[in-house]
Amino acid sequence: EFDEDDAIALVEEYKHLEGPLLPILHAFSHRYGYIGDEAVRLIAGELNLTRAEVYGVVSFYHDFKREPHGRHVLKVCRAEACQAAGGDAIADSLEKALGIKFGETSADGAVTLEAVYCLGLCATAPSAMLDDRIIGRLNQPRAKKLAAEALL
Ligand code: FES
Repeated sequence: EFDEDDAIALVEEYKHLEGPLLPILHAFSHRYGYIGDEAVRLIAGELNLTRAEVYGVVSFYHDFKREPHGRHVLKVCRAEACQAAGGDAIADSLEKALGIKFGETSADGAVTLEAVYCLGLCATAPSAMLDDRIIGRLNQPRAKKLAAEALL
């Protein structure tokens, strides 16, 4: 959980460095899992930067998440082999079943839905990954089961 005192202490640890912004962002990302608006405001204030400057760096590096992840992360392959095997229809069904679009997290924080481009599982396309578990040969019934699991 984001905590202002804790966050200030974290900034203090790196503030003396030359070019402290990136190390601070990494530290925040590591501690909180994402860099939200509150964090951006605080970091900008502490380093005498504008919020736009901090946002610019955060969005430049794709490793930095702007929102907390759900308890589960469902990655669905949207690349060619999976598409050719009917992956688009599966992807649509998953969005509907979860009530979110790709890149979003369900309101209850259960699951984040992410598009990925090849999981190296083309032989068992369409493929997906729920947390660390690989799921291949997705069809509608299996997609439905997967969505139910992701929402747990
Ligand atoms: Fe989907 Fe390779 S294209 S796993």
